[in-house]
Amino acid sequence: MSELLKHLKPGITQETRLEKIHNVIFDNSKIGSKAVAREIADLIKYKQSKNQKCILSLATGSSPIIVYEELINIHKKEGLSFKNVITFNLDEYFPIEKDDLLSYNHFMSYHLFDHIDIPKENINIPRGNVSSKDIYSYCNEYEKKINNLGGLDFQLLGIGRTGHIGFNEPGSNKNSVTRLVSLDFITKEDAAGDFNGIDNVPDKAITMGVDTIMRAKRIVLLAWGHKKSEKVAKSI
Ligand code: F6R
Repeated sequence: MSELLKHLKPGITQETRLEKIHNVIFDNSKIGSKAVAREIADLIKYKQSKNQKCILSLATGSSPIIVYEELINIHKKEGLSFKNVITFNLDEYFPIEKDDLLSYNHFMSYHLFDHIDIPKENINIPRGNVSSKDIYSYCNEYEKKINNLGGLDFQLLGIGRTGHIGFNEPGSNKNSVTRLVSLDFITKEDAAGDFNGIDNVPDKAITMGVDTIMRAKRIVLLAWGHKKSEKVAKSI
């Protein structure tokens, strides 16, 4: 049983009894990330044993990087195969080219996909270069593809300074699905360093919606460090 699953039925304490969302506190992000990677690896293996595809939805940003490192380790050291895995990514800047070094497409290749045996055709990341007139149907197709596979088995999330998940900024409708959104100024500010100035950060993004995310069979949100504590406490 993975470390994370062991924590799923904690004793009810004075601190946890008012929580609406179960949360687990780790001594550091490495220990937490290892537990999450182990849970994902166990799920992939369980699906393999049933001859089923494992549908993962993945995030970018700093929070999941160690999880991806750990998954690569498990692949290399324990021979975990990703051949039965189909991935969807939460979001992508818009507009941006696929091979742009700042695209989430590039991020995923660099931090995970280039180091494991996942078939390229099993990788789905929103395209940041769809023509404006095709965006609506493109987003619908993305959503349909997830549904046709029976939905997401596992959703990995981070949380932004505004409290966003994916690029669903505060105020996003709980029924929202994959769509084009405008980024909050604070979110753009946080990306300004990477883009060499806030003026270079794209104004928009394609993101899976709150409903798309909430329909996942299991959701794990990673939030490391004191900077995230206020938003996490508020969410819980
Ligand atoms: C990225 C994403 C975002 C990030 C969030 C936190 O795909 O969906 O919601 O998870 O902005 O980013 P970090 O992890 O860099 O603090």
